[in-house]
Amino acid sequence: MPSNQPALPESVVVVLFGATGDLASRMVLPALHEVHDRGLMPAHWRLVGCATDVLDDDGFRDLVRASLERSELGVPAGWDPSAVRYAGGGFTAEDSGELPTVLAQVREELRDTAGTEPVVLHFLAVPPVAFAAITKGLGAHGLADGARVVFEKPYGTSAESFEELDALVKEVFTEDQVFRIDHFLGKEGVQTIYVLRFANQLFGSEWSRASIDQVQIDVPEDLDVANRATFYEATGAALDMLVTHLFQVAGQVAMEPPADLRDPESVIAAREAALRAFRPLDPVEDVVLGQFEGYTDIEGVPSDSVQDTFVAARLWVDTERWRGVPFLLRTGKRMARKTQRITLVLKPPFGPLAGELSEPNTIEICFAGDGEIRLGITVKTPGPDLTFSPGKAVLELDDVPGGEPISPYASLIHDALIGDRSLFTTAEGLRAAFAAFAPLQGEARPLPEPYAPGTWGPAAAHRLAAPHRWMLGE
Ligand code: BG6
Repeated sequence: MPSNQPALPESVVVVLFGATGDLASRMVLPALHEVHDRGLMPAHWRLVGCATDVLDDDGFRDLVRASLERSELGVPAGWDPSAVRYAGGGFTAEDSGELPTVLAQVREELRDTAGTEPVVLHFLAVPPVAFAAITKGLGAHGLADGARVVFEKPYGTSAESFEELDALVKEVFTEDQVFRIDHFLGKEGVQTIYVLRFANQLFGSEWSRASIDQVQIDVPEDLDVANRATFYEATGAALDMLVTHLFQVAGQVAMEPPADLRDPESVIAAREAALRAFRPLDPVEDVVLGQFEGYTDIEGVPSDSVQDTFVAARLWVDTERWRGVPFLLRTGKRMARKTQRITLVLKPPFGPLAGELSEPNTIEICFAGDGEIRLGITVKTPGPDLTFSPGKAVLELDDVPGGEPISPYASLIHDALIGDRSLFTTAEGLRAAFAAFAPLQGEARPLPEPYAPGTWGPAAAHRLAAPHRWMLGE
């Protein structure tokens, strides 16, 4: 067994910045509870909420309780809020508010009870505009040394803004202290990719241009954007989803086998190398943008907006393994349905049935929810004649005996607690992602084409998938 796999520390303090905000309430607090509920929290822990709101410990405990009441797991039986503290007054380099005092208190408590120095995990559940001020504050008030820091997405919105943010972060933290969340990497279905591939010769042997014609990574969403119009109008589908989630998933599919799957550095190096091999997008040949009809009627969206609510892209990965194999990436809002799927489209068979089969074989990994593996295969149509039928073999991951799926946020928080960065994005990986994405932020960016809500996006996106079709929806 390799020795590099990290372990859970004896004790931890989670400092939650943006503790009174929406992200903390909807995602982070329920995920922390899930981690605790699964027995994955260190034996000794404290949660310190930090925000500008004026609250005392009990006021914050009420907010935590309310968030847990709304969550799937509910409030834990015998809920004892004494491990939860609040440090108000905001936090910047100029004004540290109450955080240093509260943090010193809980560290001392943990030293007393656990007998060791706790790990401090700063979790920035704040809008990206606040990343810089908090990071500078952590440096200025001596709270960065030996700590870990979790940043939410988006970590930069262009190659330039990424470099600016990263330079600032690197003044305070070293790369191995930084955990940048892309929650798609925490999904069970995405995590299963490398086990499917490296534990099964059946798949591992096919995982290259020798057998695969296309890789499709398809994340249609039926959601509207009316409740986040301001964010959306400033961002758009390509920046919100393509350069982030879809590129990371593509990196996960495209990577070369890491030397050691249990060694985070080895996995990180393999994903980074894949991202570095992404050819910069050709916005004219390889990208179709769309905007759903009615988008500009949403309050807060200018009537002449050319923001994209849909993107389909053909990405080329310039490695020996993938040369000539398009990675087709698609996502959009107000599409026909919500799902998340990777489809490896296999080349047609040669031999006695060459040219006779209408459907290609597929290896499909659904990474919505708990995840699912589906194999698209051809069988003989039962009966007297030699005719063929496409069939699906389906394995739902939540049916795997002994398995208990964990939500992406809880999975990533657990990894941050043990100090395992393998499923977090890295500076090197994001630099490569933004470099491949940059042409789409330049003058050659195509204008979005309209599509009717409830459909699969603009018809122009069909050509990208030729000679096949988008495996979902067409
Ligand atoms: C977020 C995007 O990061 O991911 C949203 O900002 C998107 O636009 C969401 O809807 C999808 O997440 P999930 O958890 O539904 O896979």
